[in-house]
Amino acid sequence: MRPSRRQAVRPATVLRREALIVTVPVALAALLAAAGPASAIGSGAPGAGDPYFPLAGNGGYHVDHYDLTLRYDPDSRHLDGTAVLTAHATQLLTRFDLDFKGLKVTGLTVDHTAADFRRDGQELVVTPGRPLFPGEEFRVTVAYNGTPKPVTDPDGSLDGWIPTDDGAFVAGEPQGAMTWFPANNHPKDKSSYDITVTVPKGRTAVSNGVLVGQRTAQGHTTFHWRQREPMAAYLATATVGKFEVEQYTTHNGIRVYNAVDPREASDAESVLKKLPSVLEWESKLFGPYPFRNAGSIVDRAPDVGYALETQSRPLYDSAPDLSTLVHENAHQWFGDSVSLTSWKDIWLNEGFATYAEWLYEEQHGGDTAQETFDELYDRPASDDLWEFPPGDPGSGENIFGTPVYERGAMALHALRTAVGDRTFFRILRAWATEHRGGHGTTRQFVHLAEQESRKNLDSVFTTWLYSAGKPNTP
Ligand code: TRP
Ligand code: ZN
Repeated sequence: MRPSRRQAVRPATVLRREALIVTVPVALAALLAAAGPASAIGSGAPGAGDPYFPLAGNGGYHVDHYDLTLRYDPDSRHLDGTAVLTAHATQLLTRFDLDFKGLKVTGLTVDHTAADFRRDGQELVVTPGRPLFPGEEFRVTVAYNGTPKPVTDPDGSLDGWIPTDDGAFVAGEPQGAMTWFPANNHPKDKSSYDITVTVPKGRTAVSNGVLVGQRTAQGHTTFHWRQREPMAAYLATATVGKFEVEQYTTHNGIRVYNAVDPREASDAESVLKKLPSVLEWESKLFGPYPFRNAGSIVDRAPDVGYALETQSRPLYDSAPDLSTLVHENAHQWFGDSVSLTSWKDIWLNEGFATYAEWLYEEQHGGDTAQETFDELYDRPASDDLWEFPPGDPGSGENIFGTPVYERGAMALHALRTAVGDRTFFRILRAWATEHRGGHGTTRQFVHLAEQESRKNLDSVFTTWLYSAGKPNTP
């Protein structure tokens, strides 16, 4: 027998689409009656609550999976895209936002039904044909095209889809993901990805995770990449160029894919050769490598000026030196696997990746971490290093500043000094392990350090993370 079409409203998490069609009016009336002020009813927030980037991310839903299908022509710089987001509502949604900047939207459906939308700066405001219920899964399809342009970050650097002479360098930290796909653009929301990119034959499109397919037809090559492990939008890439490709599997079973601009190849070679040993060394310190795939994208992108820890496959604007390789791969544990919930906590990414460089030096015949620390501590109080405390950079303009990287690493060294090597390395590993594939906050890190060391570490963290100016004692 078919269930009654007039069944009562079941708990939202078990509502099915078929049931919704008939129960919407009743359920909506009940929910609206219970809700707060009329203006807020059913609207997902336009931001994820980040103090530095208030419009980044959105409230009211999580994206579980992105399926991006792109076609890029490097000569005309034209991008055609379709994004299919599988998401679930975390509240009643009569309206929700995506972050999407620049490109033209040519069609938008929610659950295969045309939905109303409007653009408001970086917000793509979507009004589905019917409300979405808390816990309900829904699918948003956005068709778009145009010439993607990078955003300029508060610190003046370019971020997003950055054209190069043979393709594009695609890096999204902190804001640029929205320049090439509609996203819930905040690291609070992590998702799996399928990214399929078609480029003219002879170019390579490199993204995250595993290359599940590659095929050439009619003068174009399509690359299909899949990132199964949860990833923040800013760590996605679809970098296009003329690349030499190298693939192998490490003896630990990690599949490596390196793509190198031939103009950078001879400079990159000796450093890239060290990738397996760097990953092995980092795994010994931080615990098992968090992804199935690894590698490098070495581009020539003179306008960029930084590398990015794109998940499972860091992206370099030119041939990296060994410290940079160590740094970006350390981020795979710290930043990529264990992600931020707020950009204010950026030292959890950059301080840790920088400290990994110091440790690598120390354990490979270079300066000890103590020597690196002492040399930095010698800098006068007027130095940039002391401009702001790394635990509270103050604004988005400062998130990649020297204090975040260097004093952030000094904070870890001060912790190491306070608790001793055994406990310190246990803390690092526990941090990576306990938060693997998820998130971590500074507060949680402090708590873990105190728990593992059975010490009150207030003064260490207050001094190194939160006090303005140069600390009085090293
Ligand atoms: N997270 C990168 C690293 O240190 C650096 C980075 C990404 C960056 N985006 C940026 C630096 C924008 C300056 C400006 O590995
Ligand atoms: Zn970094």
